[in-house]
Amino acid sequence: MIKIAPSILSADFANLGRDIQRIETADYVHVDVMDGLFVPNISIGIPVVKSIRPVTDLPLDVHLMIDRPERYVEQFCDAGGDIVTCHVEADTEENIHLALRKIHDKGKKAGVVVKPGTPSSAVLPFIGEVEMILVMTVEPGFGGQKFMADMMPKVQQIRSYIDAMNPACELEVDGGVDPDTCKICIASGANVLVAGSSVYKAEDIPARIRALRG
Ligand code: DX5
Ligand code: ZN
Repeated sequence: MIKIAPSILSADFANLGRDIQRIETADYVHVDVMDGLFVPNISIGIPVVKSIRPVTDLPLDVHLMIDRPERYVEQFCDAGGDIVTCHVEADTEENIHLALRKIHDKGKKAGVVVKPGTPSSAVLPFIGEVEMILVMTVEPGFGGQKFMADMMPKVQQIRSYIDAMNPACELEVDGGVDPDTCKICIASGANVLVAGSSVYKAEDIPARIRALRG
């Protein structure tokens, strides 16, 4: 089954509770956390995760675009994150392992993320210990960018790694996913699709979420 994770980066932050209730037919709430260092933008942080936790029963999929995430993962878990993902580029391999361990010690699911310029092989040191791998299909930092179709060979390669090494692991794509580009993502082996602007721009959000399932 294909899962849809709308990104609240495209929601109206003055009406965040309402905008989260609008996506209740989705599978996860995707929360984009940016620190102005790892990416050239600043978004939302721990207090916002804590505030939205009681508003929905959907799992919170927290995408940490922050340097040295190991410093903060426990706080994001305590705030209500259910799946917490860290960029492999954000610290040393050893510290990313440490971050994943800290997330698991909190009883939550852990994942790794790769930027467009990062090869598929970068997930290999972590593949046996994660519940999610996220492949960026735009440069992280902003919603509303153009989908990078040239990331599909990487998605296919990581799908084959997952099937061989950790079949329960989810494979998520993030950036520029709409009712057209979702098809190639699904065909390439992704099973979780993040969509920000495509969901929140839609006149009929439940219909758009259905359309994104392919
Ligand atoms: C980009 C974020 C994405 C973004 C996706 O840095 O990680 O989750 O919100 O937005 P769209 O779907 O508009 O590309
Ligand atoms: Zn994201």
